[in-house]
Amino acid sequence: MLGTKEQGAKSKYGPGNHNVTMRIYRSSKEGNKGNFDSFDIPIQRWTTVLDALLYVKAYKDSSIGIRYSCRMASCGSCGMKINGKPRLACYTNVSELESSEISCEPMSNFPVLRDLVTDFSQFLSHHRKMKPYLINPEVDLCDNPELSEFLQNPTDADKFLQFSYCIKCGLCYSACPTVATDTKFPGPQALAQAYRYSADTRDAGSRYGLTAIDSRHGLWRCHFSGSCSKVCPKGVDPALGIQLLKGNIMSFAKRRKKIAELKQHTGKSAD
Ligand code: SF4
Ligand code: FES
Repeated sequence: MLGTKEQGAKSKYGPGNHNVTMRIYRSSKEGNKGNFDSFDIPIQRWTTVLDALLYVKAYKDSSIGIRYSCRMASCGSCGMKINGKPRLACYTNVSELESSEISCEPMSNFPVLRDLVTDFSQFLSHHRKMKPYLINPEVDLCDNPELSEFLQNPTDADKFLQFSYCIKCGLCYSACPTVATDTKFPGPQALAQAYRYSADTRDAGSRYGLTAIDSRHGLWRCHFSGSCSKVCPKGVDPALGIQLLKGNIMSFAKRRKKIAELKQHTGKSAD
């Protein structure tokens, strides 16, 4: 049987209709630090934070800036800090937060465009620098019309499968303490994708020599805090991807050194 305190908590935050206060960050036009606007709204047990924000937009203040699209944790566009933690608004149920006050702020480590909308330019530029696609002339369907499929066995696919679930929502980037202090650091999402394509047996290119990866601002700056993996809504473990990438780069460097030594030994030039 529930005690009085538990009964109170259950009726307040558990299933059923009740009111919550939405505290929503509003950016200032002058570029100064913004402030929060508060709105009391009714919620039901299935109300997500995105539903709550859209309710506020529809009935209280239509000028609030929010970005969203799919409403089903697939497009990655509704990331924001909810009660201090990076989350997807459409994938966070208000009841699960167990609070009568829900604060929504733009994600850290991203410039704010307006209110809850952040600028993804730098984040996506880091992603592009990793060459996030298969590099293999043999699989170019345009040049090879006879090729319809490039098969891979399940064991090989397992080596990178979880990393291909990334929806580029930026939550891991927002949670990363290294990104907070070094904007040149590619961040967990980009580095995990570098691992994803390097680990693909269909890929014939090498990303290990990319300056974006192997340099003083590259993956060696990751000190494995693991906050990226804790916030990922898709079950990706970017911290693991970075450690695996570190291992691959070490073996790649060792191999290169050995080849250079062998070539020197046989009197040929190193490269
Ligand atoms: S790794 Fe996870 S948290 Fe990071 S961008 Fe991809 S889906 Fe989002
Ligand atoms: S609206 Fe697409 S992930 Fe939330």
